Amino acid sequence: MRLSVIGCGYLGAVHSAAMASIGHEVIGIDVDARKIASLSAGEAPFFEPGLPEILSEGIASGNLRFTTDMAEAKGAKVHFIGVGTPQQADGYAADLTYVNAAVDALLPYLNPGDIVAGKSTVPVGTAAELAPRIEAAGATLVWNPEFLREGWAVQDTIDPDRLVVGVASRPSTGSGIDDGSDASTSSATDPAEVLREVYHPAIAKGTPFIVTDLATAELVKVSANAFLATKISFINAMAEIAEVTGADVTQLADAIGHDVRIGRRFLGAGIGFGGGCLPKDIRAFSARAEELGRGESVSFLREIDAINLRRRERAVHLVVSAFDDGVVGKKVTVLGAAFKPHSDDIRDSPALDVAVRLKGLGAEVTVTDPEALENARRQHPQLNYVDDRDEALRGADAVVVVTEWDEYRRQLSPEHAASLVAGTIVVDGRNCLDASAWRAAGWTYYGMGRP
Ligand code: UGA
Repeated sequence: MRLSVIGCGYLGAVHSAAMASIGHEVIGIDVDARKIASLSAGEAPFFEPGLPEILSEGIASGNLRFTTDMAEAKGAKVHFIGVGTPQQADGYAADLTYVNAAVDALLPYLNPGDIVAGKSTVPVGTAAELAPRIEAAGATLVWNPEFLREGWAVQDTIDPDRLVVGVASRPSTGSGIDDGSDASTSSATDPAEVLREVYHPAIAKGTPFIVTDLATAELVKVSANAFLATKISFINAMAEIAEVTGADVTQLADAIGHDVRIGRRFLGAGIGFGGGCLPKDIRAFSARAEELGRGESVSFLREIDAINLRRRERAVHLVVSAFDDGVVGKKVTVLGAAFKPHSDDIRDSPALDVAVRLKGLGAEVTVTDPEALENARRQHPQLNYVDDRDEALRGADAVVVVTEWDEYRRQLSPEHAASLVAGTIVVDGRNCLDASAWRAAGWTYYGMGRP
């Protein structure tokens, strides 16, 4: 099928390449000429495992092209909107400038019968507001939220754990789960049916395909991220209690995680969540709920945010209090800058925040990261950056692990690290090191919510 993808950032670049890899003819469109030049050359503008391969394959096969010219969207059957919805500069709400601009720019090139599929994360109600403009052009708007995780984006796009499509009127399937068995609920012009065709390979493998209304589809996305953020802050709240009782939050997480109703995933206590999604999405959700007069329904999200931000402060406190005379002039090596491993994304990175705060307190901070240094350097030029991990460790008075890359949690032996540093103090901001092995190698180990 001919598809256009408007917005070639994280979501759009991966979506374009992934859709080409399953056989569609895709045109990726973005206003950023540098991004388009890079993608057209088969180069991913950011670090994402597997993306360079499917980009090159798509371009070589002729199925995948990138352009800055919106006119090239003409003729595509489905137009995916994958532009960013950042936090507004002066508040918590989402900034919808790019979504509105993308729709406005696309309108002149829509053919009657086209489908516009929103993928951006938007406040509930956005689709209903956009729909009349799209319908006036004879096209149909659906909302098809994206659940990809950075670092696993290619796999999550080609082989998602569920597909959700919101359509303007609620479908008649009782459970809302459209398993394809009832042909009478769909026809060739049914927009959900067209999306089913787009995602055919995943659906054929049994991926649940949920057809719902526009508002539910928008809410599925924000509530999923709100739930994940809540899970992380829940375990971090338990870490705070563990810290005053001598309990170990990692063992607690293991024990409660065995209950399948709870599950162990996303119970990793540490310096908390960051990135371009979870923090801004819970804030935008709070802001939207306030607008709807239901602020109290999600007021707990303010607490989730507050717990999350406190954990960065806790990691800083652990470093400062590890020294009898404070951190002024102390050499602190920060292992990690990305908001999580397998990514070079530093948006709202707890790792960099810890580094910046330590620098602000007078420490001599050196930061290293396998992928994110270029981005970090640009945003925080005041920090010292060293590419080589061992070089970064040499002569350090304390080490702080803030992104759990394998380079630090698996491939760095505590004995080797001890041979490089001046002081054997380690603060494990992600609870990712083997505490007993580090202690046995002579380190004073501090974890998050661990004795
Ligand atoms: C998140 C969601 O997981 C995706 O499903 C969603 O599609 C995406 O946002 C989005 O809205 O686009 P992502 O931001 O890539 O994906 O990162 P996550 O893997 O969710 O991690 C978020 C943060 O939580 C990271 O800083 C990570 O270090 C932290 N985290 C994660 C913890 O502190 N503890 C955990 O146990 C798990």
